Formats: sequence, structure tokens, C-alpha cells
Amino acid sequence: SAIYLKDYQVPSHLIDKTHLHFILHPTKTRVSSDLTIRKNPDADTKSNELILHGQDIDLQSVSIDGRQLDDRDYQLEAECLRIANVPEQFVLSVVGLIAPADNTSLEGLYKSQSMYCTQCEAEGFRKITYFLDRPDVLSEFTTTVVADKTEFPVLLSNGNPIKSGSLDDNMHFVTWHDPFPKPAYLFALVGGDLECIQDSFTTTSGRAIDLKIYVEEKDLDKCDHAMASLKSSMRWDEDVYGREYDLDIFMIVAVDDFNMGAMENKGLNIFNTSCVLAKAETTTDAGFQRVEAVVAHEYFHNWSGNRVTCRDWFQLSLKEGFTVFRDAEFSADMGSRTVKRVEDAKLLRAMQFAEDAGPLAHPVQPASFIEISNFYTLTVYEKGAEVVRMIHTLLGAEAFRQGSDLYFERNDGKAATIEDFVSSMEEAGGRDLSKFMSWYHQAGTPKLAVTADYNSSSREYALTFNQTCPTTPECDSEDKKPYLIPVAMGLLGSNGPLSLVPETDVDFSLSKNDTHCVLELTQPQHRVVFKDINAPPVPSLMRGFSAPVRLQFDYSPDDLITLMTQDDDGFTRWDACQQLCVSVIHEVEASLQQGKEPSVDSRLSDAARALITNQNLDPAMVALMLTLPSEGYLAEIATTANIDTIHSAREIVRNHLAASLKTEFAERFDSLPYFPEYEANAVQIAVRSLKNCCLGYLVATADAVWLERAMTQYRTATNMTDQSAALSVLALSPDSKAVDYSVSALSEFYQQWQSEALVVNQWFSVQAMQPGEEAVDRIRSLMQHEAFNINNPNKVRALIGAFANNNPVCFHNSDGSGYRLLAEVVKKLNATNPQIAARMLGPLTKWRKYDSKRQELMQAELNSIKQTVGLSKDVFEVISKSLA
Ligand code: ARG
Ligand code: ZN
Repeated sequence: SAIYLKDYQVPSHLIDKTHLHFILHPTKTRVSSDLTIRKNPDADTKSNELILHGQDIDLQSVSIDGRQLDDRDYQLEAECLRIANVPEQFVLSVVGLIAPADNTSLEGLYKSQSMYCTQCEAEGFRKITYFLDRPDVLSEFTTTVVADKTEFPVLLSNGNPIKSGSLDDNMHFVTWHDPFPKPAYLFALVGGDLECIQDSFTTTSGRAIDLKIYVEEKDLDKCDHAMASLKSSMRWDEDVYGREYDLDIFMIVAVDDFNMGAMENKGLNIFNTSCVLAKAETTTDAGFQRVEAVVAHEYFHNWSGNRVTCRDWFQLSLKEGFTVFRDAEFSADMGSRTVKRVEDAKLLRAMQFAEDAGPLAHPVQPASFIEISNFYTLTVYEKGAEVVRMIHTLLGAEAFRQGSDLYFERNDGKAATIEDFVSSMEEAGGRDLSKFMSWYHQAGTPKLAVTADYNSSSREYALTFNQTCPTTPECDSEDKKPYLIPVAMGLLGSNGPLSLVPETDVDFSLSKNDTHCVLELTQPQHRVVFKDINAPPVPSLMRGFSAPVRLQFDYSPDDLITLMTQDDDGFTRWDACQQLCVSVIHEVEASLQQGKEPSVDSRLSDAARALITNQNLDPAMVALMLTLPSEGYLAEIATTANIDTIHSAREIVRNHLAASLKTEFAERFDSLPYFPEYEANAVQIAVRSLKNCCLGYLVATADAVWLERAMTQYRTATNMTDQSAALSVLALSPDSKAVDYSVSALSEFYQQWQSEALVVNQWFSVQAMQPGEEAVDRIRSLMQHEAFNINNPNKVRALIGAFANNNPVCFHNSDGSGYRLLAEVVKKLNATNPQIAARMLGPLTKWRKYDSKRQELMQAELNSIKQTVGLSKDVFEVISKSLA
């Protein structure tokens, strides 16, 4: 039962006003609604039937304009309520009972620990009350929440509080009104015994906004970073996009049990604790950066998502792609731009490219889905953001901003489409973007193969670009339209960057004294000739990762070293280093496969030495460049991934670098400063990242001195970054000399942090990634640990997710035990939390990547899950597409 974009129809009815009344109770929450409904003047249907979405609601009564209907007047189905012959305009009143304490799906109204909270995107509101639960029905909400005064002193909903008071039996109520019409997926409600930190922000136009972050009392000391991030985000959105906040109050609530990162409910963002709580002792640098990014992301949604929302769920990337682009630019401005770009490109290439090459590949604007929850993907979010970034590149910052202004102005208060967004950009940019639309409509990662030839007599250097896109589930390779690919590039000569004199039919723009250009490829093949070139240069292609493509150019190791050391683009410098690592690892793999003694190209260790000893480079970039490509990325770029060979080859290269550069790593480790006063700023984060990168290599030498020093760092660290880095290098070391340290550190870690759920999750993850034949048994016993709880998604991700995604050797054990474990977990989750069940399935769906024996084992597990009685839509869609 798939739903298709092409079948979109406007809603039959509109709901101008929504009045909700909740009496909170764990198993019998009473939800009463009064909906002011009228026929949609734009709907051409003659029928007077009203069909409301609703699920898992115990319906008590239905009335129209105060007249109670009896059950002949309506038809109750599992997922909807049909009322025949409704008037043109009326008030519909419905009373229903729901059971938040039994709601383990974490969708709709549910209990997280002692707190009531909601998650409505995408289609959770229908589990609260009968409604037109679709994003193009915008309504003005007034919400009253009633609950016990002592147990639930804090009662929140969207907008502004307009009334509150006491009731009989120790009960109280608060009424909230949200003046901005919104779709139901942005509704939120919270009831709990919460404390808050408060601050305020004054907008450019002089309005003072109250800012509040609500948490459990024990977490009050972990809110400052989120508050600071919120204020920076508000300032940034005014400065960069001219967007001011619109209500008088902005609230964030932290909850333990949450399916995703956070949710942008109007005026009342609800966050996974993992994306809001941070303090030096318990949170790593990466954790601090994630909090800053997610706070910004949700805040930015107030315009890109809430003021302008989506017409239907096929437009999801309209808000998500744009908002991820916005938060990425914000993070780049707050920290190091190059580092942020490299991290994003890394994620895209290791994970999104894999999604795009697998059976669940879909376009940024999908054409159909069975369960929308399965489409909150790297493609919709991350590739969607890259697509917006390319528009930014093509138009330039100024025209892009004008396009954004036009988009917000034109669509304010409306439910828009991706086409609306692009047409505003076209208008502001004064250019046609129709050739660009393949990025939205076609799945798969385009491959851009580039070849070069140099003619010494004409002094011409020519680049030939060939683009292709592989077959994906929705479209054959031959039927795909070409992509408009912006290629940001330059040429490096022996004395640095060359002036570019392109001769071509391709549109291009030059900058930086003509040493940099952006070519706009539109055809399957293009040839670009550069004139006045005295000797064959090294091309620097895809600077800043200017398009999400697989670039193919036959660089020699020396070319790569030239790029690494001389290009002025940080991304290409990092990428050249990665490619050098990849080629060295591939050589070792080939030797291993042929049973030959592997040797590691000394040019890599020479290049690495130059990096470690260079004090002028950003330490964060040095750390990124010295980090070998992950096994996941190496598997992704392989046609058939031989997990064990990839692992061994990578270890050989790593150990070789460790052994041959031990002195340099040690010197650099010792010379980097220690900051007694922890701050999560770019400078400190950079230093810690390089320091811990060095420590990783030093421990890899298995030198007793360095094992001891890692243990000392573990025990004396005053921040979680240094503590958990030391824990990881010890716990993940394959060397038997590390075992005693690892065992002590892991047990001390739990002793120290058992009352901090988020820190315990790190403890689960490290153990999930530990090597060894006994890995699956270890995971099974950790699942029985007092701190584990399969109903908490963070714990499932920390233990099972880390195992299946970040411990490839053990997960892909050829006895199939890793696959079996994951399948068992998915079957359990299918019954309790289908969204998480479907998400955890990811690694099994990539079965085509492996050898035939593993393929069979993986398919067998998929098939056995498919037989499960009561298979959810979520899991069904993922399984059936991955087996198709
Ligand atoms: N809109 C949220 C965000 O990206 C994601 C919430 C999606 N939730 C879900 N259960 N699918 O900020
Ligand atoms: Zn979002």
C-alpha cells in the first residue's frame, strides 16, 4: 500500500481552529477536541464525507455542532473515522481515551520515565486525537492540559500560556494558545516535574524573548551550552538570513526516550537528552558540537519548516535539506569551516553514498513510500543539504539570500513544495535551474570520471568530464537525465596555482585572481581546455566538495602529495591524503589476497611525518588527515567488501605508521598544550583531537610506557573527551598487553558514571566495538545488564547500533552469529517500536556488498524477520525493498 507523490490532492476540508483538552492519566488520558471545520473551497470533490485520521484511540463520543452522533452516523476503522454528510461548516467535538504509559512506539503522547511528552512528526498526532493529520492542513491551536499538581507541576504546549489555575483533587490546569496556524505534526505537549534554566534574547527589532530549557533537576548543571547555542543561533539567523523569532517565549524540553535527535514543535522544541545536555566532565567535544548543531537545527526550523511548512511528506527535504544546510553553515561560522566541511563530506561519502547504492536508495524528493518514518534518511537530510549548497554555489551568497527572502515572503504561513523553493531561487538568481532538478528526482550517486591530456606544442591542458549515474530501484542508468554538476577547481603548477584561461562551451565563473573556477557541467560529456599551460599541472578538483559525486581521476601518489601540501583548499588537501591512504591500503589488501608479504608505501609515512611535525597547520586538520579511512568507507568503495581483509590491511598500515613515526607522535603528543579550563571552542577541540589521535597511534605500538600513559590519562582526565579517548584506545586495542588496562578502565568507568545515563551509553558503545570472537556473547550479556533497556532508543543505538555499524569484523562473523543477534533485536523492537526496528535493520539490508556465503546468511535473517507475525509497515517496507 504505497502512497505516490503524483496522487497528491488538496484536503477535502480545512480545520481553522483546534481546541484541545487533556486530562493526563497513564492509561486513560482523556482527550477532548473541538475542531472548527469547513469544506475546502479548492477541493473539487462533490462528496460531503469527512475522513479523519486516528489510531489506537478508544473513541468515547462524536458530536457535530453540539449534537451527539450515534454510531450509524459514522464509521470507525482501524486507521480512520468516516463521517458521512457533514455540513459546509461546523464544529466537530470528539472525546477519546489514550494510554501514554503503554505507548512504547514513542510516537503520539507517551511517557518517558515520569514525564508525559509527545512526538507527532510525521504522523503521530493521529494517535492523540482524530484529525486531518497532514502537513497542508494548518490550524490555530488552543490547548488545555490538566494533571496532578504535585506530580506534574509543569504543563507545557505550543505558543503562549494564557490561563492557569487550580482544580479539585489536587489537580491544576494550564491553557496555551499558539497564534500561528500550524500543521498537527508541530503540536507538542509536556507534563512533568521539571526544573528550568532561563535566559532572554532581544531581537534586532527590540522584542525580548524568554528562553527556557526544561530538564530533570539532576541535569540542571548541563544546560548552559544548549542555552548559549540557542542564543548564538538566534543571532545568526537574524544576521545571515534576516529571520527573527516570532513568539514571546521559546522552550526546549529534554527527554530520555526519543526516537530521533530532536523536534522543532512550534515554540516548544522537544529534545533527546543526548542532543541538549552537555558538561565537560560527562560530554565529549563531539557531544558539545552535536548539541550546538541540533539546537541550531531545531531553532532554524522555526522559519524553514514552521513558518513555511511542507505541502506533503514528499517535500520533507524542503525543510530538512535546507535546515541542515543552514545548521552546517552556522557550525562552520562558530568553529572551523574546513573541519566542518570535511566531517560532513566524510559522513556523506561513508554513509549516504552507501544508502544511495543500496536497495533503499531514493531521490531527495521520493516519488512514493509505504511508511514515511523510513524516509528520515541521510539522503533527505544530508544529500538534501548538499543540493541546497550547490544552489548556493551556483547563485552566489548574495542572490541565494535574495532567493531565500523571496521564498519566505511568498510562502509564509503556507505549506510549500520543493518547486516553490527552487523557483524563488531561479527568480532571485535570474537563471533557469530546470537542468538542476535531477538532483531532486533521481536516486544514486553520480560518478564523474575525469581524464587529462596535455599538449606541449599548443601548451593546452584539456580535461574531459564524463558523468554517469548507476541504476537505482526507481530508474535504470540509461534512462537517467544528466546532472548539473558544479565543479570547483584549479590547477597546480610547479610554482603554485596557475591562472586559468578556459576555452569551453561549459558555463564557468572565475575568482581568486583567475586561479579558481566553477565549471557547470550539464551534459554526459564535456571537454574543457585550459590555455597557456607550460607543463602538465596537477588538477585540484571538487574543491570544498562542490558536488556530492564520486570523482574519479587517476592521480599518482606524487600528485596526491602535491595536492596535500600545496592546494589552498582544505577539503582537497584532506581528500588527497585520504586517497593516498586508500591506495596504500588497497595495495596491502592486494598483497594479502595474493598471499604476498605486504609492504607499506613509504611515501605515506613521509607525508604523515610532514603533517605531524608541521606546527603551522590546524591541529584538527592534521588529526583528520592522519585518521585512516574507516572500515565502513573502505567497504563502501569496494565492489565486494571483504571485511576481514579490509580490517587486516587497515591495521597493517596503521601499525606501520605507528611504528615508523613513534618519535614524532610522542613529541607532538607531549608538546600540545593542556587546557585546565575546559571550553568547547575550535582551538581547544583541535588540540584535543590531535593529542588523542597521537595517543591512538602510540598505544598501537603496544609499548608498555604508552599503555601506562594512556591509563594515566584515563584516570586523571578532567573532561570526557580525554577520558573516553583513553578508554577507547585501551579497550579497542587488539594487543593482549592492553587487556588488563582495558578491563580496569571499563570497570572503573561504570563505577564512576553509573548514574549518568548518557555516559553509560558511551560505555555500552565501546564494548560493542571491542574485537574478539566472544563479541556476540558480550553483547548478549550486556543486554541483560541492569543499565540496559531495550525500550530506550539511545541504549539500543549505543549497544546494538554500535555493534552492527562500527564493529564490522564481529558483526560479519562468518558463522552468522552477528546477523542472528541483530535479527532477534529487530523482531523484539518490531512489536514495541517499529521506527527503531526499521532503522536498526540498516546493516542487514546491505547484503549485496558481501560474499555469497554472507549474502545467504543475511538474506536468511531478513526472510525470518519477514515471517514475523504482526510485522509493522516500517519493517515490512525495509525488508521487502531490500530483498527485491
Ligand atoms: N523534524 C525533526 C528534525 O529533523 C525530525 C523528527 C522526525 N521524527 C520521526 N519520528 N521521524 O529536526
Ligand atoms: Zn530537521
